[in-house]
Amino acid sequence: MFRANEAYSRLPGDYLFSGVAARVAAYAEAHPEKASRIVRLGIGDVTQPLAPSVVRALHAAVDEMADARTFHGYAPEAGYGFLREAIVRHDFAPRGAEVHPDEVFVSDGAKSDSANIQEIFASDTRIAVCDPVYPVYLDSNAMAGRAGTYDASTGLWSDVLYLPCTAENGFAPAPPGPDARASLFYLCFPNNPTGAVADRRRLQQWVDYANEHGAVIVYDAAYEAYITDASVPHSIYECDGARTCAIEIRSFSKNAGFTGTRLGYTVVPRDLKDAEGTPLRDLWARRQGTKFNGAPYIVQRAGEAVYSEAGQRETREQVAYYLGNAQVVLEGLRQAGYEASGGTNAPYIWLKVPDGMTSWGFFDHLLEEAQVVGTPGAGFGPAGEGYFRLTAFGSREDAEEAVRRIRAL
Ligand code: MLT
Repeated sequence: MFRANEAYSRLPGDYLFSGVAARVAAYAEAHPEKASRIVRLGIGDVTQPLAPSVVRALHAAVDEMADARTFHGYAPEAGYGFLREAIVRHDFAPRGAEVHPDEVFVSDGAKSDSANIQEIFASDTRIAVCDPVYPVYLDSNAMAGRAGTYDASTGLWSDVLYLPCTAENGFAPAPPGPDARASLFYLCFPNNPTGAVADRRRLQQWVDYANEHGAVIVYDAAYEAYITDASVPHSIYECDGARTCAIEIRSFSKNAGFTGTRLGYTVVPRDLKDAEGTPLRDLWARRQGTKFNGAPYIVQRAGEAVYSEAGQRETREQVAYYLGNAQVVLEGLRQAGYEASGGTNAPYIWLKVPDGMTSWGFFDHLLEEAQVVGTPGAGFGPAGEGYFRLTAFGSREDAEEAVRRIRAL
């Protein structure tokens, strides 16, 4: 008889956002009279339509696909040159970050890249994650059998190094001591879920640590478009020495509204080599060549349009709109007496739940009493207990209404 992958059976519960969606659906079914009142600020899904330049590019690319002379079949698995070059020209060169087009691997999004990247590391690699953390890094390593066993009483995996993100360290931890024994570090800044940023000094510390200890950093920069503080780096490659120790993952989801359109990319510099001198770039190219057939042509043309002058203007307006929502939520919560952070360089607001409540208790309370959906901090890891995340990705009306209802509680 066949046997399923037992690493999957060790995963606790559902994927976080599927679990939250199921709870909200059950509530709506049990309370049909309240269902239309629900304000959803849980999963970080955008709500503004695609920018006009992006829509025009999509239409034009669809027309090309309808004509035998301009039709495109399989895309190059690492992405079309026009997009890889536009990425380097706009996302890295102006910041003095050295990245070359052949180090850019276009994909169907940051979620799949951040889940798949672990495949190019040895199976006995010890990973380190922030706590709380975007669950994909941890779940994907647990699926690969790299996390050990899960202890339900602590919420921790036995073989993972956790880096607690607390109010004391500004939710941006320093590198661990020399005996940490982890060699693959996942960092995400601006951070999901806390909305914290790593300033240049902190990020440089991480790069220096990784180079010194032969570690690699997977740097998730999906939210870089939300940085408003000019002193905060947008890319890890703005730090000296990052080309020998860092992989960076980017997304078009949050800066250009592509959550349903799907486009992202991963940078693996040629200078990043393992202990034997094997370039990770070549392994990632090999992995993508085997398992991925390229992001659709029409979507890559849409991505290219994001970098046009009009596309930049339009998508920046969208980001500014969401940041405006974040301010509404952040200020409203503070006026209501909540301790809240994030929201200034990120689309997420991280708040402390009232004393005596758990994250999930607060989730139920908000859903039942105010029909407002957020994400319990504990769902992102044990250090998230006592916290709660709200997103700024709804409409302005959603943000205002959520704040009104929370204040009325
Ligand atoms: C979130 O809510 O954390 C994000 O939507 C997750 C994602 O981008 O996959």
